[in-house]
Amino acid sequence: MCGIVGYVGSVPASPSPRPLEVALQGLARLEYRGYDSAGIAVIDDGQVRVAKRAGKLQNLRDALAGEEDTTSPVAIGHTRWATHGAPTDGNAHPHLGGKDDELALVHNGIIENFAALRAELEAEGFVFRSETDSEVAAHLVAREMQGTGDLTDAMRAAVARLEGAFTLLAVHRDAPDRVVAARRNSPLVVGLGEGENFLGSDVAAFVDSTRDALEIGQDQIVTVTADEVVVTTFEGELVPEPKRFTIEWDVTAAQKGGHDSFMAKEIHEQATAVADTLRGRIESGKLHLDEMSIDPSVLRSVDKIIVVACGTAANAGNVAKYAIEHWCRIPTEVELAHEFRYRDPIVTEKTLVVAISQSGETMDTLMAMRHAQEQGAKVVAICNTHGSTIPREADAALYLHVGPEIAVASTKAYLGQITACYLLGLYLAQVRGNLYPDEIAALMEDLDQLPAQVQRVLDDAEQVGDLARAMADVSSVLFLGRHVGYPTALEGALKLKEIAYIHAEGFAAGELKHGPIALVEEGQPVFVIVPSPRGRDSLHSKVVSNIQEVRARGARTLVIAEDGDDDVLPYSDVVLRVPATRTLFAPLLTVIPLQIFACELAAAKGLDVDQPRNLAKSVTVE
Ligand code: F6R
Repeated sequence: MCGIVGYVGSVPASPSPRPLEVALQGLARLEYRGYDSAGIAVIDDGQVRVAKRAGKLQNLRDALAGEEDTTSPVAIGHTRWATHGAPTDGNAHPHLGGKDDELALVHNGIIENFAALRAELEAEGFVFRSETDSEVAAHLVAREMQGTGDLTDAMRAAVARLEGAFTLLAVHRDAPDRVVAARRNSPLVVGLGEGENFLGSDVAAFVDSTRDALEIGQDQIVTVTADEVVVTTFEGELVPEPKRFTIEWDVTAAQKGGHDSFMAKEIHEQATAVADTLRGRIESGKLHLDEMSIDPSVLRSVDKIIVVACGTAANAGNVAKYAIEHWCRIPTEVELAHEFRYRDPIVTEKTLVVAISQSGETMDTLMAMRHAQEQGAKVVAICNTHGSTIPREADAALYLHVGPEIAVASTKAYLGQITACYLLGLYLAQVRGNLYPDEIAALMEDLDQLPAQVQRVLDDAEQVGDLARAMADVSSVLFLGRHVGYPTALEGALKLKEIAYIHAEGFAAGELKHGPIALVEEGQPVFVIVPSPRGRDSLHSKVVSNIQEVRARGARTLVIAEDGDDDVLPYSDVVLRVPATRTLFAPLLTVIPLQIFACELAAAKGLDVDQPRNLAKSVTVE
């Protein structure tokens, strides 16, 4: 939610486009984090120059056309998801600070005590030009700079006054060779170049320029010049060795690669995604999870698992519940992180919390995880984004390794999350002795088949695309599933709502007769996820009965069923096939037609598939 970028190079001998190019390129890579407005600031001829526009980044590019050259060695930029104040030019970042506009600042997060600070600063004669909470930070840093003359000290004094969540980046005309940044509860990473350095909300901001990066920890300040990066704590102590890491993916991973949208590309990357999550973790039928840094004796004493997550990640958690309870016999709850955090949940030292988050920055999930840790629980994070807060603060982190997910609607990370949950479940079963080694080996063998099976479902994308295009004017779609088909139904509905703006509901098929069937009328499209006929005896026939029930009331039934399952044929208007696998592994396959359906239908409606209205990729505010 909100993307921020920073660049520091050497003072150019003549006007150069490099700082603005880097900032604009970084913003383009981070635009998925928010697209209500965009802006940049540089320091030209001793003056802070700001350009900002409401709307997508293209509006800013248009405004800057022909004025990209600058003598500034620094640039900062921001792409906004509005919290305080409407998405207008005035509320766009950067904000100018000081009585002479001597500073520019960008902010990601929420400053909770901004009203009191604003009143204080206004009383001192600082003039506010926006409705945002962020502008107080700009004036605060500028005011402190008047006193200290050192931008790092000024930032330190300013953050001591702030409550809430923030990443701040500031440039000042009296310190034109540097960007000073601070972070608390919002993301920030630094990219290390040669004679130039970069800052970003995540590494996508600078992966075009460097793959060498530094993590910036909670409550730290970083002072970045062309040749030096100095990290200190909010208290002023030097952090001698900030954690360095190498970005694993290259810039092509952040490009559309011939697809119409990032979402389409990411859907089509899912066979590789599952293979990448499995890679190096299965060897000769054995499971290796070297990252599981929680002591096995602690894992053996676990008496309850709570999965905390939001949205799509929570749907992955719901799949995990079925697998973990079945394999490990540990009671497993799945809870939306924002509900968990505020209801006084029962958590003990024997509780294992699994925090699932693609971005690793979702504030609700982070707060839930911290709350659990305060009660003594150990936390395993399942994340995709290296250097992000959730895996850093967790007791152990399993990364997905699926590469950057740019589209706001999560697809390949969902498959990666489910796969990582399977690995975690099997690891727990291995450590706790719930399954025999040959059972685990057989499961791993089947898991290893999944990438090829995912590819087979993707090969049928055209059939689903045709269906979606033919249904582009539909106004409501229902999704039904039982067992692991239930989270798949929820995920199918979520995808359709968020990118195609169509009313969509997912139900446990067994719940149908307890209310939702009243929604079914002539022509109502209903997707039904059918379990394997070879699975749990009664489950398949129960779902086939559910298809008949809705069809009898006029529904148009769109059925996702295993290859060779002919029982569904008499009751299906459309059958979409998936390869046969174990019941517990089916969610990796059955969700794919639903993802494609949402993506193609949104495209057919002419919507922006990658950047749906009102949303942002990384929800870094509660
Ligand atoms: C939906 C979607 C969201 C995220 C949710 C959690 O397509 O992407 O529902 O799954 O906001 O995000 P992460 O996984 O980054 O914590």
